[in-house]
Amino acid sequence: MNDASLIEAAKKYRESAYAPYSNFKVGAAVLTKSGKVFGGCNVENASYPVGCCAERTAICKAVSEGERDLEAIAIVADTEGPCAPCGMCRQFIAEFGIPRILMANMKGVVKVVTPDELLPFSFSGKDL
Ligand code: THU
Repeated sequence: MNDASLIEAAKKYRESAYAPYSNFKVGAAVLTKSGKVFGGCNVENASYPVGCCAERTAICKAVSEGERDLEAIAIVADTEGPCAPCGMCRQFIAEFGIPRILMANMKGVVKVVTPDELLPFSFSGKDL
């Protein structure tokens, strides 16, 4: 699957966003090395910190289906520039070493970065 198709998948999952509190919809799509796609959206909660970001929803879906070898993740929101993952999601992405992170917006702006660019000097299992 190419980058444009993965971003399109993230846009489709964004439509499922449950964001009644922020009204900020985010979609994400993870591509596995085996070629499968798992999507996710943000899922908010009346107790605000309990909500889950789109990226973590998508990664949890892949991992819970037995897919840990992840090739890329696309993130899309209606932002001015490319949608950047939050700090917690950066740590989550680093855990699985997803080599390509496609940050996009609804206007077609895309920026591709590595986990180390997103979260330099990250804490990992090697530190334990
Ligand atoms: N959000 C994501 O889903 N991913 C991010 O990387 C940034 C923030 C969600 C969380 C919350 O539901 C809404 O966007 C506003 O912060």
